[in-house]
Amino acid sequence: MAKENVRITVFDTTLRDGEQSPGCSMNYQEKLRVAHQLDRLGVDVIEAGFPIASDGDFEAVKAIAVVIRRPIIAGLARACHTDIQRAWDALKDAARPRIHVFLATSDIHLKYKLRITREECLAQARESVAFAKSLCDDVEFSPEDATRTDPDFLCQVLEAVVEAGATTLNIPDTVGYTVPTEFGELIVTIRRRVKGIEKVTISAHCHNDLGMAVANTMAAISAGARQVECTINGIGERAGNASLEEIVMAMRVRYDRYPYETAVAAEHLFPASQLLSEITGVAVQPNKAITGRNAFAHEAGIHQDGVLKNPLTYEIMTPQSVGVPDSKLVLGKHSGRHALAIRCEQLGYQFDRRALDDIYRRFVRLADKIKHVEDHHLLELIRETHKPSTSATPLFEPLAVAAAAGVPAQESVRPFPMAPKANAFGLPLSISPEHHHDQEDYLWGV
Ligand code: KIV
Ligand code: ZN
Repeated sequence: MAKENVRITVFDTTLRDGEQSPGCSMNYQEKLRVAHQLDRLGVDVIEAGFPIASDGDFEAVKAIAVVIRRPIIAGLARACHTDIQRAWDALKDAARPRIHVFLATSDIHLKYKLRITREECLAQARESVAFAKSLCDDVEFSPEDATRTDPDFLCQVLEAVVEAGATTLNIPDTVGYTVPTEFGELIVTIRRRVKGIEKVTISAHCHNDLGMAVANTMAAISAGARQVECTINGIGERAGNASLEEIVMAMRVRYDRYPYETAVAAEHLFPASQLLSEITGVAVQPNKAITGRNAFAHEAGIHQDGVLKNPLTYEIMTPQSVGVPDSKLVLGKHSGRHALAIRCEQLGYQFDRRALDDIYRRFVRLADKIKHVEDHHLLELIRETHKPSTSATPLFEPLAVAAAAGVPAQESVRPFPMAPKANAFGLPLSISPEHHHDQEDYLWGV
């Protein structure tokens, strides 16, 4: 009998931590559109906002809680009654509400920011989680700046909030300071020392100040974390949060090292990335892993030659597996409405007849001037044609893109190393034999 695969909960905080980053704020309508896309993507938890922060945030969290019924909807609160009550008021109509309470625990935050002692911090954490629990069954607690907190004190606080009813313990690397081995060891320490830890889920929340947010998150999973907090395109405070698409695809492509499952429908990753970039106006870095414009582009002659002979030479996953449109469909002045509509759908947009005619007229004018209309031209054109301010109801909606196009299986030898039996933290890598069939969707015929 095959072993049960280990499931990782994907907690998306694009609408909360992501939205806090410069240039990424979103209004009510925009937040709802992103929430629908996150639902299609299959994330388990949507952190919809920080209800005490503004009336706008409160209303957006409330609306998302009412409209989006499948995933858990979380709202953030500082460790005090007013915040927690406000979060609950926004969340209480959700099918599956979660209150997320945070309180800094590092000495530097206690001394300079909160001006409280460790004892006061411990009491406040315990008391606020107990209050959140009196309102909502599902309570997450985050000791802010955990990675710069004295581990003994961190474990003491975590134990107290487990006793008070927390169901998820999130470990934030708030300032992006930790490194993978150290973060993995911290998770192991927490698992060994916190009483009652087996009843709760450990979560990782990493910032990217040293460019290690995804690596740190993966180390946490290997060490026993079972929830990851991340954002689309890695948007977030300062250098951003761990990127959702990179974490998910690392597990899919390197299942030999990360034998874990998520419920994410990977073919929706690229449309989600495009939608967010379109809404915020913040472009995706061209060389961004998974969703950047160049992530599947081959320019060098030697690479092109190799990829044409066998894509396995330079590609470890197919563009289609993450929803990147088939680049063989070149759009120029001879292209018709049908090809244009298909490419728009691949980019995450579906138009009615009238809207498509409108886009098509502009497209032909542009194609007359430039030879090939690339995806970024087309996205620009869509943005210009349907500026939200000029149209009361948006004419376009992100589309649930069809399942990734089937990639013909090729006869080939697995070019990757054999999977080890245990990871660096001594946890067994239990890979079920069935999984390799699913893996084939992500690799070129491996
Ligand atoms: O980075 C952080 O510490 C946070 C917490 C509020 C979870 O975003
Ligand atoms: Zn954060």
